[in-house]
Amino acid sequence: MAHIVITSGPTRQYLDPVRYLTNSSSGKMGACLATSALRLGHQVTVISGPVQVDYPSAATVIDVISTQEMLEATQSAFATADGLIGAAAPCDYMPIEIASQKLSKTGQGLQLSLRETPDIVATLGALKRIDQWVVGFALETEDVRFRAIVKMAKKRCDMIVSNSAEAMNSPDNAVEIIKRDGEVVEQVAGPKQLVADRILHQIQKHLLDSNP
Ligand code: C5P
Repeated sequence: MAHIVITSGPTRQYLDPVRYLTNSSSGKMGACLATSALRLGHQVTVISGPVQVDYPSAATVIDVISTQEMLEATQSAFATADGLIGAAAPCDYMPIEIASQKLSKTGQGLQLSLRETPDIVATLGALKRIDQWVVGFALETEDVRFRAIVKMAKKRCDMIVSNSAEAMNSPDNAVEIIKRDGEVVEQVAGPKQLVADRILHQIQKHLLDSNP
């Protein structure tokens, strides 16, 4: 039995008390991955941004809002875990300043200054112990496989799941599961639960059973 941490859903970066930057990630892939991992008998901690999805009741779910909060919660759970699956779509930018009161319209438009948020998978890929593994996701619209492999190396992942842009907020996904050496170990398309089962199967085979 392994302890697997799964990041899931979007994050939010507030501009003022009521407005925020986000994306349309639903958390569905994270929920399906949690179900697949639990079915294999693993312990699961989900670090989730704001979503409507129902996570399996046997998973420990930690709710977060911002990318920084997701990083802190993931880092803390990962310390006692065997592996991380980065299925979240964290917001990549945050306003340099957050207004404490609601911004009023001035008729002049609004200039936003943004900075990049921390990359959770890359941070933990760099910090992982020899006995830990990290699986990332990649969503590209061109040179899909090549870019996924480059991303896997850059973020020091042990495996990457390259998926299509249609996956966002959809019941289905079509993915390639790629090992660190660049080998495509599986291509699978269909409902996210089926895709999640196959991802967990490949994790079990290449990262858990081979790394007791
Ligand atoms: O660089 P890109 O966003 O395409 O990488 C996708 C992978 O990186 C996913 O596994 C996603 O969960 C992870 N990621 C992250 N923190 C970010 C941005 C992406 O963990 N700030």
